[in-house]
Amino acid sequence: MNNINFVRVDNIDDFAIVSADFFSDFLKKNDNPLVILPTGFTPLPFYKEIVKRYKSGEKYLNKFRYLALDEYVGLADDDYRSFSSWLGKEILNPLSIDSKDRIIFNSNADDIDKECKRIDDIVSENVIDLAIVGIGENGHIGFNEPKSSFSSRTRKVLLHEKTIKANAEYWGGIDEVPKEAVTLGLGNLKEAKNTLLLVSGKRKAEILRKSFCAPVSEDIPSSYLQNQPNLTVIGDEDALAEIIF
Ligand code: F6R
Repeated sequence: MNNINFVRVDNIDDFAIVSADFFSDFLKKNDNPLVILPTGFTPLPFYKEIVKRYKSGEKYLNKFRYLALDEYVGLADDDYRSFSSWLGKEILNPLSIDSKDRIIFNSNADDIDKECKRIDDIVSENVIDLAIVGIGENGHIGFNEPKSSFSSRTRKVLLHEKTIKANAEYWGGIDEVPKEAVTLGLGNLKEAKNTLLLVSGKRKAEILRKSFCAPVSEDIPSSYLQNQPNLTVIGDEDALAEIIF
């Protein structure tokens, strides 16, 4: 296992502050980096803190290019459930990130495989400076569900039942959740120069232990992180409860 920088925080306020400090230091040291940002509930306090700092004058906080991690398939651009709308609302619009600096999936593309190839080519031609990711209770990262290959590339996937259930919490019911998605592959994510995993809450404790304290296996996609260079994990006490330091 590579050296992993585990950062344990006491509460959600500290989670936001410590994650924002990490991001802010990263932007000070890297010129216009390419950054992956996740959707989900976990990063919301972090986004709020970044937007607050930006609005209070830390203008360098928008000096990055954004690369989408994943997206549902078949939604109109302005659909409230699309991940690009969600991240637009939470962080990219408040930071005034220019549309030319947003590499996003066209969820509604006629040929979704071609669309995945387009994004995969962009990823291959660029360096991912920082991948900020969250983790699903089944170990998914992005929409790389259990048994995804560690060398997988950008592609269309079917969401697992557990993931559909978890995503139903975002949109108020299972029927609202699209069943197909596109995602960067683990092979893409493994190429990131730096990775930051954000994790909070009791219900992530078990998968965090399996990710870092069990053998690396495609049954647990997040276990690829054990061999990831320059990995920082910022987690609250509940999430990190089962990790033995
Ligand atoms: C989001 C994503 C997912 C989430 C994961 C955790 O773009 O790719 O892997 O990071 O499902 O979601 P939350 O934070 O809602 O628990």
